[in-house]
Amino acid sequence: MRTEQHNNNNKRLLSSKAIKPTAYFIILLLTYTLGYLSSPSPTSSSSTSSLSLKPLPLKLNHASSTTTTTTTTILRVSDNTTTTEINSFRVTIRCADPIPPEEIRGTVINRLFDGTSPFHNFPPEHASAMLRRTTKVKGWGSNGAVFENLIRKVRPRVIVEVGTFLGASAIHMAELTQRLGLETQILCIDDFRGWAGFRDQFKNIAMLNGDVLLYYQFLYNVAVFNRTGSILPVPFSSGSALRKLCELGVFADLVEIDAGHDFLSAWADINRGYRILRPGGVIFGHDYFIAADNRGVRRAVDLFARIHNLRVKIDGQHWVIHTS
Ligand SMILES: C[S@@+](CC[C@H](N)C(=O)[O-])C[C@H]1O[C@@H](n2cnc3c(N)ncnc32)[C@H](O)[C@@H]1O
Repeated sequence: MRTEQHNNNNKRLLSSKAIKPTAYFIILLLTYTLGYLSSPSPTSSSSTSSLSLKPLPLKLNHASSTTTTTTTTILRVSDNTTTTEINSFRVTIRCADPIPPEEIRGTVINRLFDGTSPFHNFPPEHASAMLRRTTKVKGWGSNGAVFENLIRKVRPRVIVEVGTFLGASAIHMAELTQRLGLETQILCIDDFRGWAGFRDQFKNIAMLNGDVLLYYQFLYNVAVFNRTGSILPVPFSSGSALRKLCELGVFADLVEIDAGHDFLSAWADINRGYRILRPGGVIFGHDYFIAADNRGVRRAVDLFARIHNLRVKIDGQHWVIHTS
């Protein structure tokens, strides 16, 4: 009886010993199979850690109110987990309907200067002794041939200049338009702050309580050269000024870009300036060839032209993009 029980115990022991390796083997097999199935496929694009750039067809709107549509290509950026279309970051702003060129001066004076021209009663007493009369206004390529070439070709009613400084290029354009018998309004967008440290080169521009009188000196130069009827300042940062003009329906036949020369500034100004360009107008700017070369203005211009399928032409130090 005891021997029988002992035999039975041995059998149970033997069978449990035989089951264990089988179970381990099955678990191992299952684990391997699950691991294999959940691993990334070698052909899947997310298996690489680098970004992949793929061209996508895209329709872009030239955001003037009388829109033209161009077809071009954008890049799709994807990484391991997400796919982001650059188009998602595109903010399309619709400007107001264009107002007639002859109404632009009055509209800007009313909406930005409470109805009083900034040249009214100029210069104020507290500043007049600090302003300097000059026979040649300091600028950079401000009398370049590009101005005459474009003004002769386009015969603009409205010019918007982004980056004016002391007014050299604006005064030159005002002289040219008058010589050609045109009635042209020139709007000069500038925050009239210059740039940090610019007084190292321009000590002769007065300063009052740390506030450089660049705006007053600009108004003074325009007055001295007798151009107050055709030039009007828009004394705000380029972003807010261009947005405002778009909102007011102020469109230009010529837009000149010559403010910040780093990539981001130039890129923003070109894109915002293009919004207020009349269909068929010309956008152009200075310093296509500078030391920063492909890191600043030139990169922004070339990228913009590529996205919009437009050609960049060169005129001296200036880049020029015709939209017709
Ligand atoms: C190179 S100067 C313009 C020169 C002028 N076009 C000429 O030829 O005489 C650049 C001007 O851009 C202005 N500027 C720079 N960044 C600006 C911004 N974000 N908004 C408004 N003005 C800006 C500066 O105050 C400066 O007067």
